[in-house]
Parts: sequence; C-alpha cells; structure tokens
Amino acid sequence: MRLEGKVALVTGASRGIGRAIALALAKEGCDVVLVDLDEPAAQRVAREVETLGRRALPVKANVASLADVQRAVALTVEKFGRLDILVNNAGIIKRGTLEDHSDADWELVISVNLRGTYYFSREAAKIMKRQGWGRIINISSVAGKIGDITSAPSYGPSKAAVNALTKSLARELAPFGITVNAVAPHAIETEMTAEWSEERRRALIAQIPLGRMGKPEEVAAAVVFLASPEASFITGEILDVNGGYLMD
Ligand SMILES: NC(=O)c1ccc[n+]([C@@H]2O[C@H](COP(=O)([O-])OP(=O)(O)OC[C@H]3O[C@@H](n4cnc5c(N)ncnc54)[C@H](O)[C@@H]3O)[C@@H](O)[C@H]2O)c1
Repeated sequence: MRLEGKVALVTGASRGIGRAIALALAKEGCDVVLVDLDEPAAQRVAREVETLGRRALPVKANVASLADVQRAVALTVEKFGRLDILVNNAGIIKRGTLEDHSDADWELVISVNLRGTYYFSREAAKIMKRQGWGRIINISSVAGKIGDITSAPSYGPSKAAVNALTKSLARELAPFGITVNAVAPHAIETEMTAEWSEERRRALIAQIPLGRMGKPEEVAAAVVFLASPEASFITGEILDVNGGYLMD
C-alpha cells in the first residue's frame, strides 16, 4: 500500500468519480472523509471504505458554503488528527444555451466548481502547511481546456479557472511540501453523463481514439498516482484522462 496511514478528504464522494476515488485511496491505505450533500449515500460509501479495513467519516456539507467547509475540515482533524490528501471532486453542470442560462445557474456552477475548490484548498492548506506535507488534487475537465462541447456556458469557464487555481496554488504551496495538481477527465460513465442520448454517446465515442467512454476507476487511478510517492516531483500538472480525445 502506497498511502498507508494517510488521511484523505474527498468531496462529492457519494457516487460516480468521487466514490471511486474514495475507494481507491482506501485500498492504498488511507482513512477517508467523505464530503457530500447526499448524506445517506455518503454513509453507504463510508461502509464500503470500512469493508476495505480503513476508517471513514461521512460529512454532509455543501462545498460552496465556507461554514460547511470549515466544519468538515475541523471534524477531519478532530477524528483523525491530520489531513494529508484533499481531492476537490464535487462538481455540477447546468446545460442550456447562453440565453437559457440564468444568473442563478451561473452563480451555482461557479460557486460549487470553483469557490468550493478554493475554500477547501485554503482550509486544508492551513493543516498541510503545519504538517509540512500535503497533496491537493482537483478534478477539472477537458472543458476547462477547450470550452464546453455541449452548451453549458458556465461549466468550461469554472473548470478553466480550476486549472489556473491549480497552477497558482502549486507555486505558492510548493515551499511547504504541498503539491497541487488536477485531473481533467472526459466522457466518464457516471450519472452526470447518463442523460446523454444514445445518438450523442455514439457521436462522442467516435471522437475518442480509444473508442469507448472511461470508467470512474480510471480517473481514480490517476488521482492515486498524483497522491503517491511516485509523483513527488509533479506539481501544477493538469493530467488528461480522456481516451486520447484531446492531446495537448
Ligand atoms: N463524468 C464525466 O464525464 C466528467 C468529465 C469531466 C469532469 N468531470 C468532473 O468530475 C467530477 C465528478 O463528476 P461525476 O461525473 O462523478 O458527477 P456526479 O454528478 O455523478 O457526482 C457528483 C457528486 O458531487 C456531489 N455534489 C454536488 N454538488 C455538491 C456540493 N455543492 N457540495 C457537496 N457535494 C456536492 C453530488 O451529490 C454527487 O455525489 C465533477 O467535478 C465533474 O465536473 C466529470
């Protein structure tokens, strides 16, 4: 196990990519804090973590609320005494044309995807600085590099800002032994993409050199790598997990 004894906090851990990340980190030896709006689902994932022999703490919290974020970090330190790995995974998309997109849609997407990542990074970095070691891994998207491929005016900008935040924090936190990286997935089989029509799915897959959609576990493997000792000289990186869809 590459991460024996580490404490990880994963946001949006109740399902999809976040759940896969939580379980993959537990398999590598982490105790895991599972942050999500959906408390019953977070509790179910907590039991899965415990089945793997690790400790788990489900926390109902909204990543866009500073009070919730501070409470989640305080509960983590209270229960586990430290915080080593933060995975900012919680994210939402609001589809619709520019004209359909309301101010409320814009505010919600930016506040969850960007402000939530900023809040958790800031609060976690305070603990990580004291420890002299930390790993922050942000789940971005291919849309952060090329814009939205379906009409969703705030999603790409929110993820582009997450990429810039990743690089800014990577420079600022490097002297404290903290690396900050992002993973940029595309077309992963989760509830976020379940709404795609069969026709749309086929069209998207046709543009992916590996000829299929990705699995949450394939994103989780990239996160585990970035948290692992093998990635100790990597910071400020945006790692694509996209089947070759975008090669930049
Ligand atoms: N699925 C894909 O193809 C894909 C592609 C690129 C990027 N991503 C990114 O990966 C991440 C996970 O996506 P997914 O497909 O697993 O999504 P999902 O919708 O299946 O799961 C998202 C989870 O986040 C939680 N969540 C949402 N808002 C929250 C909030 N304010 N506070 C706390 N928890 C909240 C939800 O309850 C849910 O459990 C997101 O950041 C998404 O933008 C996904």
